[in-house]
Formats: sequence, structure tokens, C-alpha cells
Amino acid sequence: MDHFLYKDGVLCAEEVPIPEIAAAVGTPFYVYSTATLLRHFQLFDEALEGMDHLVCYAMKAASNQAILKTLAQAGAGMDVVSGGEYMRAKAAGVPGDKIVFSGVGKTAAEIRLALEGGIRQFNVESEPEMEVLNATALALGVTAPITIRVNPDVDAKTHAKIATGKSENKFGIPISRAQEVYALAGAMQGLEVIGIDVHIGSQLTDLSPFELAYQKVAELTVQLRAEGHNIRRLDLGGGLGIPYARDNQAPPLPSDYGALVKRTLGHLDCEIEIEPGRLIAGNAGLMVSEVIYVKSGEDRDFLIIDGAMNDLIRPAMYEAYHDIVPVIEPDAGIEQVKFDIVGPVCESGDTFAKGRAMPPVAAGELVAFRSAGAYGAVMSSEYNSRPLIPEVLVHKDQFAVIRPRPTFDEMINRDTIPSWL
Ligand code: LLP
Repeated sequence: MDHFLYKDGVLCAEEVPIPEIAAAVGTPFYVYSTATLLRHFQLFDEALEGMDHLVCYAMKAASNQAILKTLAQAGAGMDVVSGGEYMRAKAAGVPGDKIVFSGVGKTAAEIRLALEGGIRQFNVESEPEMEVLNATALALGVTAPITIRVNPDVDAKTHAKIATGKSENKFGIPISRAQEVYALAGAMQGLEVIGIDVHIGSQLTDLSPFELAYQKVAELTVQLRAEGHNIRRLDLGGGLGIPYARDNQAPPLPSDYGALVKRTLGHLDCEIEIEPGRLIAGNAGLMVSEVIYVKSGEDRDFLIIDGAMNDLIRPAMYEAYHDIVPVIEPDAGIEQVKFDIVGPVCESGDTFAKGRAMPPVAAGELVAFRSAGAYGAVMSSEYNSRPLIPEVLVHKDQFAVIRPRPTFDEMINRDTIPSWL
């Protein structure tokens, strides 16, 4: 469920009509709904009720500080994967003891930053990383709390570019070697082993891969405890998928996921941590764009819009589907037409949809990409020297620009010219 509905024939974000925002900030732009962000966070929080737990929002999905603050004020922790994300979370007021550091290639500098600034735990992904973490902690005279990310060799049944739990993927240590690696970690003076971490992929629309992975984690917990490790926290990653197409069969709900967690891991008396990103932010955001031209090709019509692959790369990168709807509600029963929906960037890959049936729209009209809140703005770039598009946050009848569009000068003046030119 989200809070982007037509009211009196106009698409609104909560109580704010989208054309009002477009008039204020220009197009294209991202707009997020506070109510949807909070609702999705709360769904996870409620799903784990009765278990000691923390929902650590995977801020890679949408990392604007206003979004982080909204979720942090509701009680969310953060899952970060870089020094930049760590600093951004801190800047948004998230305390270090609610920040989890994930990622396969943490540098010594990033590790130091987090150890000095405070951290809930590091999710360690390899032995060499473990050694750097140990050495850095010892040098600083502190102990680093860790889980080790295990790779359970489970097929997440999702797009290959976002599956992470098969043995051929770069993530974690093979679960078959877990006992050996935990023994090594246990012997390191700078580390405190507190738990196990697993994350098998993103946009999972079936619970069975989670079930397989969590069963393996349950078995490993028992084994590691028998070997003397005080396993008390299980980080289960993120990955629950969202309905991108309105007419799709809805994926499992956070409550179904929560029931699965309780069923597979509830008996272990561990604190549960989860790292959802997409399900919290995805359907909480739209990308709004204006139609520049409707162009008739030889065998098709192109809708050329002012948003492009640099603003929302998911269709070009993962063949991802996004619902694209007119901002002015079409008359009921109007006959649909087919368009190839494309941006102005000079690549054929700058295509959002091919042969998409939708109500007719004309130049100057607004269209909205649904489910664009996660992995939208954060993956955007200024390719073709198109300035990053603004982000707007709505709260009931108010809206605020939470990242302004840079002017051409601001964009251009980031370059510096060497003295010899
Ligand atoms: N935890 C870890 C360690 C992760 O690597 C990820 C996502 C998450 C949590 C959050 O997963 P989520 O709940 O959002 O599925 N750019 C791609 C998605 C990349 C996901 C990367 N890792 C896309 O646009 O589909």
C-alpha cells in the first residue's frame, strides 16, 4: 500500500497534488511519502514483535538524510556499506550503536571511521577483512563487535545482478567453512564474535529461499554455540520484494516473512536484526517526468520524456519494470495506446518501456514512475551533463525539497582546471 492516489482526478502524494510540486521544482524529480515510509518500517517492526529485534534500514536504497531522519525517529537502525553512508547516517542523527556496517570491501580507513565514531557491529565478509579489522581495533585499543556473513549457497530466484547467496557470488564466506573461520575470529583479541549474518539477494518474491537460508543459519548457530561461541544476534539481511506491477500477484508480506523468521529461528533466543531497503523505500517514492515530444516512428510511437536513464537506471540495468501512469487521471474506459517510453540520453538503452500500453498522453503532460523510491535517486548520475534531479519529501499537506537540483553553474564548477590549461 502507498499514499500516491488520485484525488479529484489528479495524482497526489499524500495530500499534495503532484502538479503543485512540479510547478515548484520543475521536472523531473523524485517525491517520497512520509506516511508510506513509516508504514513500511512499522510493518517490519510489527512482524518481528515478540522477538528482541532491530530493523536496520538498508540506506543504500534511498539515503537522503530527511528519509533517514524520518525512519530513525520511528526507531530504525541503519545498515551502511561505505564510509559515506556511515557519515550520512551519523549526520542524520543515527547513533553509532544503531549502525551496522555491511559490505564486501570495507577499507581500513572506513573501519577506523566506524570504530572511532561508534558502531553496533561489523558484518565481516572475509578472512583478510577480519585481520584488518582486528589490527585496527587493537591499534585503537578497542574491541570490534562482529558477525560473519555466511554464504549459504541458496538460489534466491531473483535477477542475476542482485542475487548474492550462491557460492559463485563474491559475498560472505562459504557456510561450509564457517566453523573454521569462526574459530580464527574467536582467537583474535581485537574482535568480539556476537553473531551470524546472511543476505541472499534482493527483490525476492518467494519465501522459500529465505527459509532454506535461515534453516542453515539455525543449524550453524547450534554448532557454533557447541564450539563455545556466544552467538546471540542473527542479522538476516534484507531482500523481501515489492509489487512493481499493480496487476502482479502480490509478493509475501512482511508479516509472512516475520512468521517465517519466528518459525525457523525463534527457538534460538537470539536478537534478530533485519536490513530491508527496497520494501521500505520502493513504493514510497515516485519519479515524475514531463513528456517533451510524442514522436511517430515507422512502426511505433515514442514518448520522449525529460527523465532519462541517468535519473532512473533500473530499467536499463536490470530490465526492471516500473508502472508509468499519467498524473492527470484518464477518463474511465479510455482506450489505451502503445508507446516506447524513452529519455533524451544518446543511447538506445535509455528506454524505460517498450510497447507499453497506457492511456494517451501528450507533450507537456506529466507522467509518474511508480515504485521508484528505492534504488532510484541513489543510483542517478549526471551523464550527458544532466544535473541530478531534486528530491522532495511530502508529509500530509506539506512538502519540502530535501535535495535541490544543482544549477548548471554548480554542476560545471565542480570541475577544476589544472594550472597548465
Ligand atoms: N543488506 C545487504 C547486505 C544488501 O546488500 C542489500 C542490498 C540489502 C540489505 C537490502 O536489500 P533490499 O531489502 O533492498 O532488497 N540496485 C538494485 C538492488 C541492489 C541490492 C543490493 N543489496 C535494484 O535496483 O534492484
